[in-house]
Amino acid sequence: MSRQVAPLQIGGIQVWPPLVLAPMSGVTNRTMRALYKPFGLGLTVTEFVSCNALAYGSKRTMEMIDQHGLEKPVATQLWGDDPEMMAQAARVVRECGADIVDINFGCPAPKVTKTNGGSACLRDPQRCEAIMRAVVAAVDCPVMMKMRLGWSEGALVYEEVAKRAQEAGIQAVTLHARTARQFYKGSADWEHIARLKRAVDIPVIGNGDLDDAQVALQRMRDTGVDAIMLGRATLGNPWLISQIVDLMEGRPAAPLPSSADRLRFCMVHYRTMVQELGEARAVPQMRKHVALYLKGMPGAAILRERIMHIDSGDAALAVLEETIARLESSSTAA
Ligand SMILES: Cc1cc2nc3c(=O)[nH]c(=O)nc-3n(C[C@H](O)[C@H](O)[C@H](O)COP(=O)(O)O)c2cc1C
Repeated sequence: MSRQVAPLQIGGIQVWPPLVLAPMSGVTNRTMRALYKPFGLGLTVTEFVSCNALAYGSKRTMEMIDQHGLEKPVATQLWGDDPEMMAQAARVVRECGADIVDINFGCPAPKVTKTNGGSACLRDPQRCEAIMRAVVAAVDCPVMMKMRLGWSEGALVYEEVAKRAQEAGIQAVTLHARTARQFYKGSADWEHIARLKRAVDIPVIGNGDLDDAQVALQRMRDTGVDAIMLGRATLGNPWLISQIVDLMEGRPAAPLPSSADRLRFCMVHYRTMVQELGEARAVPQMRKHVALYLKGMPGAAILRERIMHIDSGDAALAVLEETIARLESSSTAA
């Protein structure tokens, strides 16, 4: 078996496999990342953290940046529009265990862009550069940056911002190939990712709409990117991660698990979230995860509805157990 792709090198950190879990606010917390890491992720990124919130050091924010050492390497992602605040925040997250600092120039959410953060920074590439220079100077670890194509179709600045990133000492750049204005509409345009790869020497991580192992590898080959990042398609289906790793390591992709096995893992996910976050926080968060694990299963819509109205972990786990038993008895009957 031989590796089909090369490791990703981010400064002095070698990442194998070159497969990154996308940061997803409200989803990829520490528990979730630790659960998905063993499927074979090379790198994980925290949910984005506001540099202003970090200056206040609230318990919830500090929890988000505390890296307890299960994931190596891990990148902590920051957003903000002020270079000095971002530099201070970078120092804090580095002290709290980040192996890499990631700068967010991609978030299109109005609550972020109205304060000129996230993708709104792309309206001012000079400011992007000032932020990147300040963060790079503040820490002794590699800094990466994640962006969209630009604010809108008429202002595609990704090449310019990536070139400034390279000049500023950024060690890798992730491109989600949509504009901010697009939010999640349309599809990610991988032609732009290929163009970016040709335009800069620093590693490029391609992101957007990957939901199939073969296609993911093909995208890597076609565009020449150094790594791929996957987000939504892994939710409820972390086995997609292992399938991609299989292909990267030169093996045929393992088949996806049975519905019952998927739900067994969902139960592990549920219990771990309750243990680590407590029931009050875990139950609402798990509703969306359970819905995703159920996707495509017989009777999924009814089960989803039941889970939506349950507010105790034990009751949700009982529904899952009952569903597993039903799935197994119908498969033995068949
Ligand atoms: C619920 C959700 C939350 C997200 N939060 C973040 C975030 O905190 N930081 C970030 O850079 N991108 C965030 N993203 C964008 C993803 O990292 C990724 O770029 C996007 O989902 C496209 O990749 P995908 O098609 O593989 O999901 C988020 C996306 C979703 C769906």
